[in-house]
Amino acid sequence: SSKNVVNIVEVGPRDGLQNEKGVIPVDVKVELINRLGSAGTRYIESGSFVSPKWVPQMAGTAEVISQMERLPDNHYAVLVPNQKGLDNLFTLLDSYTPSSSQPNPPVNEIAIFTAASDAFSRANTNISIADSLTRFVPVVRAALERNLRVRGYISTVISCPFSGQVDYKQVRDIAKELMDMGCYEVSLGDTVGTGTPASVAEMVEEVKKSVPVENLAGHFHDTFGTGVVNVLTALQHGIRTVDSSVGGLGGCPYSPGATGNVATEDVLYALQGSEYDVSYIDLEKIVDIGWWISEKLARENTSRAGRAVKAR
Ligand code: HMG
Ligand code: MG
Repeated sequence: SSKNVVNIVEVGPRDGLQNEKGVIPVDVKVELINRLGSAGTRYIESGSFVSPKWVPQMAGTAEVISQMERLPDNHYAVLVPNQKGLDNLFTLLDSYTPSSSQPNPPVNEIAIFTAASDAFSRANTNISIADSLTRFVPVVRAALERNLRVRGYISTVISCPFSGQVDYKQVRDIAKELMDMGCYEVSLGDTVGTGTPASVAEMVEEVKKSVPVENLAGHFHDTFGTGVVNVLTALQHGIRTVDSSVGGLGGCPYSPGATGNVATEDVLYALQGSEYDVSYIDLEKIVDIGWWISEKLARENTSRAGRAVKAR
């Protein structure tokens, strides 16, 4: 039934590419996003308006979102860390004029991001959790006034690469604060990828005490090979939105040793024939895209399903 449709948030063009070593040309990023749209992907995180000194790989985001195809019913989002990032996005939106080939604005959504550990928050955005939340209040208000939906991220919901164990009550309080601020959804990020079905279940149940599960998403990095089981665990605990990266691209530049997101192919494959419906995305096309982008970047394709399909 439609109740069990799982929303796949494709984060490859952002979380994936932000961590790649070489320079990635704008046209490759644009083609990646266009191909994902053609495969049926409905939600594509397309880049970041962060400081290019901090994350050089996202420097071309304004060009990317101006040039990419924007399918009418799709969601396209960029990460925004502060007012400066939002101002840069507004400048771009102000200069956009609808045309027959591009009738839709570059993006219709932003994502803001904080963390459940102060050490990570400072490493990632040079600010404490509390100060980041204060800083986001006017950013969210201004975005909503321009009819941009706002998604909130919390990093390090299971563990922090610098300070270890995280208190799930802290995750819950921050999630509530992001919702109260005006976010329509909070994505719970296992940045390091240490989560297991047991810890993910405990964390999700804790957060559900303060935020309806309809407003929660799961964002799992696959460092320890638990990405797919953690997705399934989150679904069994009522979550219906899952972030993933084609080809298993990705990682956070400020999370040493962490690998990419759970691969979109692996999630789609694992959910085949289950009660969870992801059939609106074409698995074969996603597999092809995973190979295409991995070859473009001269990296390994870390999707197990992608490798298995090729080996057949
Ligand atoms: P800062 O150095 O404290 O910034 O960085 P500042 O406000 O002091 O400004 C310093 C300079 O940066 C100034 O320029 C600003 O104009 C400029 P200058 O006067 O020196 O020429 N600046 C900007 N430029 C472009 N865009 C901006 C911007 N803001 C300031 N938005 C800042 C603070 C937040 C900017 C920086 O720390 C930053 O950009 N961090 C982003 C880090 C990042 O992108 N991390 C990866 C994404 S999060 C993630 O991957 C986790 C997630 O996947 C979930 C999970 O897995 O956990 C979402
Ligand atoms: Mg991430």
